[in-house]
Amino acid sequence: MFEPFTRQLFRDAGLSSGMRVLDVGCGSGDVALLAAEIVGPGGAVVGVDRAAAAIVRARTRAEIRGMSNVQFVEGDPALITLDETFDAIVGRLILMYYADPIDALRKLLLHLRPDGIVVFQEFDPSGCKSHPASPAYDRCANWIIRTLALSGAHTHLGLELYRIFQSAGLPAPMLRLDGVISGGPSAPYEALPEVVRSLLPAIERFGIATAAEIDIDTLAQRIRDEVLAKNSVIVAPLLIGAWARQAGNNSRQ
Ligand SMILES: C[S@@+](CC[C@H](N)C(=O)[O-])C[C@H]1O[C@@H](n2cnc3c(N)ncnc32)[C@H](O)[C@@H]1O
Repeated sequence: MFEPFTRQLFRDAGLSSGMRVLDVGCGSGDVALLAAEIVGPGGAVVGVDRAAAAIVRARTRAEIRGMSNVQFVEGDPALITLDETFDAIVGRLILMYYADPIDALRKLLLHLRPDGIVVFQEFDPSGCKSHPASPAYDRCANWIIRTLALSGAHTHLGLELYRIFQSAGLPAPMLRLDGVISGGPSAPYEALPEVVRSLLPAIERFGIATAAEIDIDTLAQRIRDEVLAKNSVIVAPLLIGAWARQAGNNSRQ
């Protein structure tokens, strides 16, 4: 769902053929694989994530696509040593998980060459809603936001990127805002329920809702039925992208 926005953000930020890119918190590799496509065979991408299972999935996906310009490493890129410095550091929905995103970004910048590009894309969930209201959709959004917040994630980090970049020693970043609004039979009704599915243990642990209330296997269908019955639209969490160029010998922003 977010791929076109991330692609446009990378285009705006100046990611291009031949670059070496570090993808922070690569998960199953969506962003790293996109970056690898942009930098092409003359470039290289390293995706780093602390979740071993995600790294395995990302490697498998790269192999299936026959992409040899991307590799995946398990760990926290703010803490590990890497053999090279990068032309660009990118990340999507990752700074929100660091307890101190400014400190994390400062550490990540140690992997960037002078004049290198920094690009992050993070959520702003405040516009995530349905209209006219589908209670099932709105409840689903609320479960996700509350669970992430109680887990310690910075749920509105997108709005903080402008300040975080500067506090980490970067110039004021350029910004863009993207979002998905949809209705009708082909809207992405599975998207939020899939997040709820992955958060289910935490939702129950925090006492936000019970598995019986959520009834995960019917959730997407119930949202779909409500939205179609009211001819509503649903708005996904907004994505805020920020990019800047680290000062260097030939500094240009
Ligand atoms: C919401 S997912 C985003 C994945 C990917 N960037 C994307 O947009 O498809 C967040 C990812 O960040 C990873 N993560 C969170 N904190 C991390 C840390 N300190 N070091 C490395 N990975 C981390 C998680 O394991 C998870 O894969």
